Amino acid sequence: MSHTTVPHPLLAPLFEAERQRFIVAHPQSLALSQQAQAHFLFGVPMHWMRDWPTPATLFVRQAFGVTLECADGVHYTDFCLGDTGAMFGHSPAPVAEAIARQAARGLTCMLPATQTPEVGELLTQRFGLPVWQLAMTASDANRFVLRWARAVTRRPQVLVFDGCYHGAVDDTLVDRDPTTGQTLPRPSVLGQVHNHHSYTRVVPFNHLQALEAALADGQVAALLAEPALTNFGLVPPEPGFWAAAQALCRRYGTLLVLDETHTLSTGPGGFTRTHGLQPDMLVVGKAVAGGLPCAVYGFTEDLARRMRQAKESAPEGHSGIGTTLTANPLTLAALRAALEHLHTHEAYGHMLDRAEELETGLMQRIQAAGRPWTVTRMGARMELQFMPRTPRSAQDVREMGQPELEAFTHLFMLNRGVLLTPFHSMMLCSPATSADDVRQLLRNFDELLGTLPA
Ligand SMILES: Cc1ncc(COP(=O)(O)O)c(C=O)c1O
Repeated sequence: MSHTTVPHPLLAPLFEAERQRFIVAHPQSLALSQQAQAHFLFGVPMHWMRDWPTPATLFVRQAFGVTLECADGVHYTDFCLGDTGAMFGHSPAPVAEAIARQAARGLTCMLPATQTPEVGELLTQRFGLPVWQLAMTASDANRFVLRWARAVTRRPQVLVFDGCYHGAVDDTLVDRDPTTGQTLPRPSVLGQVHNHHSYTRVVPFNHLQALEAALADGQVAALLAEPALTNFGLVPPEPGFWAAAQALCRRYGTLLVLDETHTLSTGPGGFTRTHGLQPDMLVVGKAVAGGLPCAVYGFTEDLARRMRQAKESAPEGHSGIGTTLTANPLTLAALRAALEHLHTHEAYGHMLDRAEELETGLMQRIQAAGRPWTVTRMGARMELQFMPRTPRSAQDVREMGQPELEAFTHLFMLNRGVLLTPFHSMMLCSPATSADDVRQLLRNFDELLGTLPA
C-alpha cells in the first residue's frame, strides 16, 4: 500500500484542467512542436526532452539568471536550472564573457590551451585532489573512470547503489532484484545486449552490511557512487555512512569514486569537501564550467602513478578513453572562469540562504496543512517529497513515491510561472535566485495546497 494522499481519479480532472491551461497559454510552443516533428524524432533534438509532463514541448527563447522565457514570451522563474547544468544561473557573466573572448580565437585544436596549468591549479584549489583529466560530459567522465579503475586494479567488477544514475554509462544502467539481491538489466534501457550482471554489483544505499558483502571477495575495482542518491528521489547518507563505506573500500582495495555531478549543490567543493571525504577519484560534470559541456575527474597522486603505469605498459593504440572535442580551448576558457568566479564561498552562501528559506517555507506549509509530505535538502538543492519521511534507500522511494502527484505539481507550478525539475519535484537555488523568487514559489505552493483534495 503506498502513502497516496490524493487518489489518482481525483487528480485526473485537475490534471486535465492544467493541460488545457498550458495549451491555451502556449500557441507558439505548440506550433514549434508540430513543425519540429518534421525532422526530429518525437519533435525534439533529444528524445527525453519530451519527458516533461507538459502536453507539448516548451520551447525556449532565452534564459538569463533564473529567468527563462519561452517561445510564447512567458517568463518562468527557473528552479530546474537545466537539472543542475545551470546551477550558477543561466549565462553567468564571467563565463559568457570568457566564451565570447575565446570564440574568435579558436574553438577546438586537439592541443591544450595555454590556460591549462592555471585550470589545474584552480581545480585542485576548489576540489582538493591533485591530478585531473577532462571529459565532455559526466557520462563520459564516468565511463572513463570505470575504465581506469579496472585497468589499474585489474579487477573486473564495479559496484553501484540501487537507484543510481551516472549518465549514459552501460555498466551502471542496472537494477537490484529486491528479493535475491542480484543485478538485473534496467528494463527501460534500449538496445542492451551486454550481460552487465556479470560485471556490475548493486547494493542498497545506506546498507553497510550489503556493501561489505559485495566488496569482500576482492573483485571490485571501484565503488562508483553519488554521495547522496539524487536521481531516484533525494536519499541522503545516514550519519557515519560515508566514513564507514570509505573504510570498507580501503580495506578491500576498492577505489572509491564519488560522482559529485549533482551533489555539487552541497557547498563549495561539493559534498566531498563539505564533509571531508577522501575518495580516490572525484567526478564533476554539468555545472562545473557554468553550463558549457564539460566534466572533470580528479584523483590522488598514488592513483595517478598507477594510471601512468597502466597506460605506459599498454600497447600503442586506442585506450578507449577520450573524445576529440574534449578539453577544447572554448571549454577550458569557460571552466577557468567558472572555477574562479562561480565556485566561490560567496556564491554558495547566497544559494544556501535561499534554499534554507525555501525549505523552511515549504515545511511550515506542509505541517500547517497536515499533509504527510516532507522536504529533503542537500545544500542548494531540495525535493518536495510526497511521502511522510525522507527515504533511506531507493526501495523506500519505490514504495512511498507518488509520481502522478509529482507530475501534476510540476505542471501546476509551470502554469504559474515557476519551473521545477520534471522529476521528483527537485528545486535548486542559484546565486541569481532572490528572496522574491522563493516567495513566488511558496505562493504557488499555497495555491497547490488549496487545490488538491485533502
Ligand atoms: C550523478 C550524475 N552523474 C552523471 C550524470 C550524467 O551527466 P550528463 O548527462 O551531463 O552526461 C548525471 C545526469 O543527470 C548525474 O545526475
